[in-house]
Amino acid sequence: MVATGFFLLSLFAVALGNPLARRAMTVHESRSDVPVGFVKQGPAAPDTVLDMRIALTQTDPEGLTDALMAVSTPGNALYQKFLTQDEVAKFTAPTKETADAVSAFLKENGITAQSISPAGDFLAFQTTVAKANEMFAADFSVFQEQDSGKLNLVTMEYSLPSALTQHVQFVHPTISFTRNTFTPPAFKPLKDVQPLASHPGNVSSDASVPASCVNVVTPACVQALYGVPATPATQSSNKISVAGFIDQFANNADLQSFLKALRPDIKAGTTFALQTLDGGTNSQTLSDAGVEADLDTQYTVGVATGVPVTFVSCGNNIKDSVGGFMDWSQFINSQASPPQVVTTSYGENENEISRAAANGLCNLFQQLGAKGTSVFYSSGDGGVGGSQSTRCTTFLATFPSGCPFMTSVGATQMNGQTSGVVETAASFSSGGFSNFFGTGSFQTSAVSGFLSKLGNTNSGKFNRTGRGFPDVAAIGNDVEIFSGGEEGLVAGTSCSSPIFASIISLINDRLAAQGKGPLGFLNPFLYGVAASTFTDITTGDNPGCNTNGFPAVAGWDPVTGLGTPNFAALLAAAESVS
Ligand SMILES: *[C@@H]1O[C@H](CO)[C@@H](O)[C@H](O)[C@H]1NC(C)=O
Ligand SMILES: *[C@@H]1O[C@H](CO)[C@@H](O)[C@H](O)[C@H]1NC(C)=O
Repeated sequence: MVATGFFLLSLFAVALGNPLARRAMTVHESRSDVPVGFVKQGPAAPDTVLDMRIALTQTDPEGLTDALMAVSTPGNALYQKFLTQDEVAKFTAPTKETADAVSAFLKENGITAQSISPAGDFLAFQTTVAKANEMFAADFSVFQEQDSGKLNLVTMEYSLPSALTQHVQFVHPTISFTRNTFTPPAFKPLKDVQPLASHPGNVSSDASVPASCVNVVTPACVQALYGVPATPATQSSNKISVAGFIDQFANNADLQSFLKALRPDIKAGTTFALQTLDGGTNSQTLSDAGVEADLDTQYTVGVATGVPVTFVSCGNNIKDSVGGFMDWSQFINSQASPPQVVTTSYGENENEISRAAANGLCNLFQQLGAKGTSVFYSSGDGGVGGSQSTRCTTFLATFPSGCPFMTSVGATQMNGQTSGVVETAASFSSGGFSNFFGTGSFQTSAVSGFLSKLGNTNSGKFNRTGRGFPDVAAIGNDVEIFSGGEEGLVAGTSCSSPIFASIISLINDRLAAQGKGPLGFLNPFLYGVAASTFTDITTGDNPGCNTNGFPAVAGWDPVTGLGTPNFAALLAAAESVS
């Protein structure tokens, strides 16, 4: 111990006295603008501790993309021949030269890092603002977010020793801002909702939609709308995982009240398993129950009947959402038997985060997809104005929906009818086009079809060559949950992602029962053979930035994607290609 300490100390001294310590630095990432809504206050306190991540250059990221597309594209000889962890690591591991170069740099700076990815390409370490400023030629400053008053530590640029540039994807947190205004969907107590609807109870999959669904959406309404069977899944190896952040706790008593009232056919006591990371907890005090976490667990346990559900509570050791999403993805990615479906109802604006970190998270989704996991995120609740913000002149894409290698879920609402096409686009449903990622190869004709219908509308306000999102939609308004012991309604794409994810999870169960593999990364399947199975939503739009936003039209659109699911037709499409 003493010897090691002395060794480190002397290395430090050598580094200080060594001309190498003052060697040429190259700016690695920078941003020119402070996002709207943030104000710089001054330098960050030098002794503030930063939880940092460093992503190493991978051996062959393009090879990973090719492998992912092969196993995810129906008709390809490798379709559903998912990769093992080791096969993925062949693409994602750093070369020895890269690992050695980064390790030497950290050692010179007296930093001990640990790998938190299976392939050793993602390292975690703690250091102070003073040290981070020194080793990355950074200027960490405090930026206050005006809406919430919350503080971000951000540097507008950072550098690496020039010889290290080629070995590092990015250092995080650095140039990414985090909007701390993520608010769970507003909760309207059911007793205040007029007219009061009675619980519709069970419906068979071919029954028409109960009239009460116009006012109050329950699991029975979801079953009726999309033909989702109530019969339980039979394959215990088929799992769904729900991500939770920002102290959103999933309450089991609320889940039991929900099941008792709305899924009396599900065995009482059915619940979710818990996993935690980054200091996460899951308080069961009723007053600590989180609307978002209750919603997400109730519409997985209550829709994906019989599928084992895990709630992953990601704690506050990580103070920004991109960092949280990356740690969560690495956590799932490190599991020996990862869940076949993961759903996350959190997100943010793409323009506020580092492009390199966005790319790093998108690469993680590719790793999950290559191993057979379908990744779902809600598309956001601010229409074309972004995740929640309204101050915008050009449209704000949300993240991670801009990443092509996940499935983004937008929202619909009831249109007041219970027969025919009974849904219309929800006006809050975020959708649009990424500035970071190009149009997905699976969606080129869907996107060009939409753009030609759109004509010059909103010209100059969005990126015509970007990845279009959302991919699909599901009901997301007036959805009944129980939270904090109370029965009430919520709205948001937060409802839509767990509902759609649950439907895919039930399809995976039916496939597994036939000895077939899960669907994995879905988009090539969804935009291909499955495209015609969706109920096309052709009314409504998603206003924002003082415009009407985009219209929902025939075919794919950036409000409701391909449309809402039809269980039997989607299952038949899956069976036809699996
Ligand atoms: C719902 O269906 C189950 C069987 O699937 C049945 O046992 C139960 O009684 C039904 N509940 C209602 C309220 O109809
Ligand atoms: C538009 O999207 C493309 C990706 O297709 C990107 O390379 C380009 O930088 C984006 N344009 C702007 C102005 O952000």
